[in-house]
Amino acid sequence: TIEAIVAREILDSRGNPTVEVEIGLDDGTIARAAVPSGASTGAFEALELRDGDKDRYLGKGVAKAVDNIEERIFPELVGYDATDQRAVDQKMLDVDGTPDKSELGANAILGVSLAVAKAGANSSSLSLFRYLGGPNAHLLPVPMMNILNGGAHADSNVDIQEFMIAPIGAPDFREALRSGVEVYHALKGVLKKQGLSTGLGDEGGFAPNLPHNAAALDLIGEAVGIAGYELGKDIVLALDVAATEFFADGAYTFEGSAKSAEEMTSYYAKLVESYPIVSIEDPLAEEDWAGWTTMTAQLGDRIQIVGDDLFVTNPTRIARGIAERAANAVLVKVNQIGSLTETLDAVDLAHRAGFRTMMSHRSGETEDTTIADLAVAVGSGQIKTGAPARSERVAKYNQLLRIEEELGDAARYAGAGAFPRYRT
Ligand code: PGA
Ligand code: ZN
Repeated sequence: TIEAIVAREILDSRGNPTVEVEIGLDDGTIARAAVPSGASTGAFEALELRDGDKDRYLGKGVAKAVDNIEERIFPELVGYDATDQRAVDQKMLDVDGTPDKSELGANAILGVSLAVAKAGANSSSLSLFRYLGGPNAHLLPVPMMNILNGGAHADSNVDIQEFMIAPIGAPDFREALRSGVEVYHALKGVLKKQGLSTGLGDEGGFAPNLPHNAAALDLIGEAVGIAGYELGKDIVLALDVAATEFFADGAYTFEGSAKSAEEMTSYYAKLVESYPIVSIEDPLAEEDWAGWTTMTAQLGDRIQIVGDDLFVTNPTRIARGIAERAANAVLVKVNQIGSLTETLDAVDLAHRAGFRTMMSHRSGETEDTTIADLAVAVGSGQIKTGAPARSERVAKYNQLLRIEEELGDAARYAGAGAFPRYRT
């Protein structure tokens, strides 16, 4: 049972404060978890509580969330069984009492929620993925590596936020990761040779200025070849457009002009014809439900269409997306909804409707690796956690290497099976 909870303000990968929580159980078990933070956040996400005190961390301190954990959450959870995750999370939701967790802060609730899960796993002497996923958790996800950053994660002129490579042809996760790393280094060489910047964006990918968005795909295609892989077979492509970021007053300002949802969709249709793209995330804005439904009808049998800002890992919004066929996959971010139980409920809902899920980091991350275990626990078959560079990104990939090793012969790599709709 829970005996002690300590919280503190630590730093994330962008040098902003975030919440870390430590939990002690009466059997001597201790566990620690840290909370991530987004930049291109969805309007419907649970509330990340920031102090707003301009004298500290430019207003971004999380001292209040830390206080809420120690003074308002801890007293309520003393004596709770750490393995009773659903009851623990429900208690915090009850104490908070708001639909968006604005009373205690989603960062406060999530920090405790994840630390409780880890304490439960430690106390049960199980790896976190086994503790959460049970004996059948054995599917290693395809690492969707974001090797070229644009949008809100870079200072460049590239509109699309993320250009990802998916090494679906590899036999296992370890080899998949290796091929991604080799392409990443080859891409650096390609950029250098063309006199383009090799500076990095927030998720560890390169962030050059480019004449247009498709130029990024050409550069990546070249890098894939140089690294000795076949584009469309060993390695396929995926995008996170994060279109909400450039949507205003009913129009998408993309490549220098105002476009409608229909025009954006025709652009994607052409892109999918020309490049082996298996997945597009947030192709349209978070409130453009009709546009999403049209796009899914048009392209959904060919590619994965992923709702991130659209769904914000929220079961209510996912249920609407299922009913309206607004997408065919859900991006899963623990801090968008703010508790582990609700995250697991969101994944269940998606999977039962035949929607795929992609486990995801945030652009602001820490050394916490919970999402790696979570991806295997729920069998999502896909994880995006940035470029294979920078420790806060690599920490998750490294954890997946450990999980694959622990599973041994039982491990299965999702590979091409993660994208059944994709046709070469
Ligand atoms: P964020 O970006 O963490 O800055 O929201 C990630 C994403 O859009 O998927
Ligand atoms: Zn996104």
